[in-house]
Order: sequence, then structure tokens, then C-alpha cells
Amino acid sequence: MDHSIAAPSPFLTPELAAEVRDRFGTPCYVYDRVALEAAAKAALAFPAPFGFTLRYAMKANPSRGILRLFRELGLHIDASSDFEVERAIQAGFAPGEIQLTSQMPSRGLAEHARRGVLFNACSLHQLDSFGRVAPGHEVSVRMNPGLGTGSTKRTNTGGPASSFGIWHEYLDEVKTVAERHRLRITRLHSHVGSGTDPEIWKRCTRMTLELVAKLPEVRAVNLGGGFKVGRMPEEPTVDLADVGAHVRSELLAFEARDGRRLGLEIEPGTYLVARAGAVVATCIDVVDTGRDGYLFAKVDTGMTEVTRPSLYGAQHPIDVLAKDREAAAVVFVGPCCESGDILTPAPGDPEALGPRWVPRPRIGDLVVVSGAGAYCAAMSTVNYNSYPRAPEVMLEPGGSLRLLRRRQEPTNVWADET
Ligand SMILES: Cc1ncc(COP(=O)(O)O)c(C=O)c1O
Repeated sequence: MDHSIAAPSPFLTPELAAEVRDRFGTPCYVYDRVALEAAAKAALAFPAPFGFTLRYAMKANPSRGILRLFRELGLHIDASSDFEVERAIQAGFAPGEIQLTSQMPSRGLAEHARRGVLFNACSLHQLDSFGRVAPGHEVSVRMNPGLGTGSTKRTNTGGPASSFGIWHEYLDEVKTVAERHRLRITRLHSHVGSGTDPEIWKRCTRMTLELVAKLPEVRAVNLGGGFKVGRMPEEPTVDLADVGAHVRSELLAFEARDGRRLGLEIEPGTYLVARAGAVVATCIDVVDTGRDGYLFAKVDTGMTEVTRPSLYGAQHPIDVLAKDREAAAVVFVGPCCESGDILTPAPGDPEALGPRWVPRPRIGDLVVVSGAGAYCAAMSTVNYNSYPRAPEVMLEPGGSLRLLRRRQEPTNVWADET
């Protein structure tokens, strides 16, 4: 085995990880501006033939530091709640750059319409509600094209087992509701899952365009996000150029048969931020369950910062920053009183343990969890066991660390209680 300390993530050197711990404590999220900009630029190059809007699905990571960076690069926003709309506006986005696509019926539809926030109706009920407060307006509808794909069933948002969007067979009902309120459906949207299979995603593009063909006023199609990035070395990453070339030819073919030159939108979250984030943590205990059992490293991060492994068995790279140690098969667990607080479930079997070969950890070692830019700070079981929310830091191109969010004061965990 190599006894030197390998760089724990594409952007965090062992020295930087140590600096993070010295200055901000652990656990601490670190985001890499260079990686964020590179991902945004790659997505902005999507080869749309008739105009293109790149929306950032801010649910993946709504940190103001990241929102501002993407705004400067010309991205628009996919917001998933009224609160995200407000957060994006606070971060400097113009209302017209934000589209709301929410499972929760909006409580601010009239205000959104007045300000020019774009609305994407995700059910017939939502479409009707919008029509009541904004008759005659332009609107988008989110359709479930009848097929979906995700890295797990829990991240699949298309097909008959998904509640997202309006079922494709209900287009007549969509038209009836729209006519009732003189709504103009000028945009059509589908998002069929996260961590999608590119071939199925491509099929969904065609299915979505078949729906567009039946709505003559549609001028732009939004194909959602879902572009998979491999966090683990063995996991595939989507070839965005290949997907882009496919979409381009579909849009050109649509123009040839229908005459309409459709604008294109996509709204990735994962693709833009997943690999640009890491959590710097500390090994807080090492225990085992005997000769036939497991060796466990307890670290001060787990489901409270990186919930994806315990939620759906997602895999994240984990590095122990230690020199000259023998290797050991280690199960990494978080600090919560919860047997599900596991950072290394077995790949493909979230219920089982998946030990990793790493330098045998000792208490006090630095441990880095990578691939933690998307759906980690944003989607954590924050404050479980009353652990304060972890800080977030931006690694700037020159190597300096800029605090984006300080660690939550412990008293603020219960400050809103009456
Ligand atoms: C409507 C919508 N658009 C875009 C996304 C972003 O998905 P991903 O992070 O997989 O790109 C999501 C994720 O849940 C979503 O619900």
C-alpha cells in the first residue's frame, strides 16, 4: 500500500483540510469555486439550436455564495418552494429569472404573477389555482411523460409510480383548465428523476416533445435536470455533450415536422455542484464487534451533514488522512444515536454495511467525505441530536478559504421554541 497521504478530494489537499479544521472546526463543508465554475461553463455549452436557458436547481445547494456565483455566470433558477423563490431574490436574481416548480401548492401565486416570477404548474389543481389569480397569464405545465429514471427508485420522478407533474394522458384536462382561465401554456416541463440513465432520459425527451406537439402555443421546453455525476471512481458520469447532441437533433427534427423553433431549458442541480463539495470531519472513536464482526470508525459527520447514504444508500468517497498506517476494512458511521447513521452502506443494498479499505483510522484523524456539494447541506437531518448546523466555506481560486455560513450557535438550535 502507498503510505503517503493521497489528496482526499479533487480540490482539498491534506494541508487545506487541516487548515479548515484549525479555522472552522469539524464538521465543515468546503466548496470549490473553480469546480463550480467549470461545471457551470460545461452546462452552458449545451448545444441548443434555438436559444438556451440554464436554470440551477437551487434545492441541490441554496447557499448564497453559490447562488451569487451562478448568477454572475448567467444562470437562472429552478425554485422548489415559495421560500426558495424568496431566497433566490435575496441572492440577487431578478424575479423573471426564477421559475417555481413545487410539490406544495404556492401560497404566493398572485405575488409571483405580479412580480414576474415564472410559474410551472405541477398538477391540475395548481394550474386551476394559478388561473384563478392570474387569468390570461402565460404559464408552464410540468408533465409526467409516462416514464422515469433515477439512481434509485426514490430519486425517480417519472412514470406511473411518481406523483410529480401531470400524467401525460390528462392533456385534455390541462387544456380545459387553461381555457377556463384564458391561460396561455407557452412552456412545457418534464423532470424524470435524479441520477438518470442517459438513454432513458433521451427517450423521455422524445415523449415530452410529443406532448409539446399537442400544445400549439408552447415556445420553450424544459427537460429538467437529473444528469448523473459519478461521485465514486467506479460510478459513471453523464456525457453531457452526447446528451446535448441528442437533444439538439430532436429539436431540429421537431422544427422540421412542426415548424416551431423551441427554446430549450435544462435545470441541473447535481451536475453543477455535487463534485465541488466536501465535508472535513474528525474521527471521534474507533470500535469493533470482535473477530467476526466489523471495525467501525465514528466520525463527527454523518446523517446530520451527508444524509444521502442513510436515506438511499448513496456512496460518497471517504478518505482518512493518515500516513504510514496499515490498511483496514472500515465501516464509517456518524455521531447520531441512530443505527441508520451510516456513511458506508453497501453499494446497491442500503440495509447492509459496506466496509471500505482505508488507512486504519485513529481517534483525531482528519476524515474527508467528498462528492458532498449536492443534497448534503441542503438536505440533511440538521439538528438531530441537537447538533448545530455545520459551517460552509468557499475555497477561492488562490487557495484562500472564505466563510459562507458560520457554525450555528448551539442556543439557536432551540431559539424559536416558545
Ligand atoms: C423539478 C426539478 N428540476 C431539477 C432537479 C435537479 O435534479 P438533479 O439534481 O438530479 O439535476 C430536481 C431535483 O429534484 C427537480 O425536482
